[in-house]
Amino acid sequence: MYEWNNIRPLSFKAAILISISVVLTACNGLKTEFDSQQEHKLKLPVILEDTNSDPGVAEFSLEASEGRTEFAEGFPADTIGYNGSYLGPVLRFSSGEKVTIHVKNSLSFPTTVHWHGLVVEGEMDGGPHQGIMPGESWSPDFTVDQPAATLWYHPHLMGSSADQVYFGLAGLIYIDDEVSEGLNLPDNYGVNDIPLIVQDRNFRSDGYLDYRTSMMGVVPGDTILINGTLNPYLDVNRETVRFRILNASNSENFNFRFSDDSSFQQIASDGGFLEEPISRESLILAPGERAEIIVDFTKSGRDTISLMNGNSPILDFNISGKEMASAAIPDFLSDIAEIPEGDNPRVRVFELQSMGVTGTINGKSFDMDRIDEDVPLKETEIWVIRNLGGMMQTSGHPFHVHGTQFQVISRDGKDPPLEERGWKDTVFVKTGEEVKIKVRFSKEGVFMYHCHILEHEDGGMMGQFRVQ
Ligand code: C2O
Ligand code: CU
Ligand code: CU
Repeated sequence: MYEWNNIRPLSFKAAILISISVVLTACNGLKTEFDSQQEHKLKLPVILEDTNSDPGVAEFSLEASEGRTEFAEGFPADTIGYNGSYLGPVLRFSSGEKVTIHVKNSLSFPTTVHWHGLVVEGEMDGGPHQGIMPGESWSPDFTVDQPAATLWYHPHLMGSSADQVYFGLAGLIYIDDEVSEGLNLPDNYGVNDIPLIVQDRNFRSDGYLDYRTSMMGVVPGDTILINGTLNPYLDVNRETVRFRILNASNSENFNFRFSDDSSFQQIASDGGFLEEPISRESLILAPGERAEIIVDFTKSGRDTISLMNGNSPILDFNISGKEMASAAIPDFLSDIAEIPEGDNPRVRVFELQSMGVTGTINGKSFDMDRIDEDVPLKETEIWVIRNLGGMMQTSGHPFHVHGTQFQVISRDGKDPPLEERGWKDTVFVKTGEEVKIKVRFSKEGVFMYHCHILEHEDGGMMGQFRVQ
């Protein structure tokens, strides 16, 4: 039934190897080296057009295909993307809207498209069971049944998610609702409402992406791409600007701050607005996590500021003299109703253990034909996630659950930090740590829980549950 599952995208790798040798031969006489220092204007993904004119109904078309991307001028590299050569457009939905997405696989290998953070039935989720063979299409439909949020989409084919994301398959999903529209937040896309899809990458001297794993896992990238832009800069007005940040890396955590150590307001976590903005000076995102922040560029006496990852600048802002009237950031953002707990919630324990690029959950490696947990529909449960560490371990595992947005109850018995008191779908669990979350599923079907280090996910650190 799932024979396609064993087909790895070898043809893509082979194609890359062949083109690399072709380029190397062709460029033999050329002395120019790929220059990762060249500055580029930050690219912005387009917002995909809804082709259905009925209000309340939206229809979108996505096509995954192979293409070429010049991360630096004159150095085209083989990449993959949705409706383009690297990354994909923003899918923008309204809460309550009926959505159909036509996904065409024009790649030479199978893929899937998973809507990370979207609360939909298991069959629409785009996990490993919804494989799309080359040349085929998949058209999930669903009603958007959750509040305003910044979510994302990416492949989820068993054993190939890491490769496919690394070479370009990922995109953002925005959900709007009455709350987001009523808040008077910066919402001029590309001007004061800016997506930041952040990824670490390695490049070869010929400009190709260089995906390498070692015994320890994926080799961390020495270069940061934002929206697929190498060494990006962005011109901003002197106004408040909202950034929707996604860590779309395979395995790296980012520690964001600004070069002048200025503070900013975090307004949203994975699944939507926090109750109130939180003033912060730094923000850590693990793979799969998102945050929305608001930066006040009117306060700055400077003309340039950089967004930093730790001590490295990753995006330079040129602040123009133009002063723009900005609305004040509201003190209150949204009500977050606590998930009702019931009398005696079922408790499930998930013990994470890793070894290099592989790992297990509760001692088991992922099996497509095994349902690990049977979970009743619309009943609150407490999930206890423990990171037992392991050999050649990473600093922690971002634990992700499909088909829901959950609430974090505690970290090692203590209250979660303010930024984790909103809706979450991915939670970082450090080595030795125990995180408790409250979950409730409102849609039926088979869903995944897994470590969002993509090499761990591909390496078996994933399980599945059936909600009914
Ligand atoms: Cu973002 Cu199961 O994935
Ligand atoms: Cu997901
Ligand atoms: Cu992991």
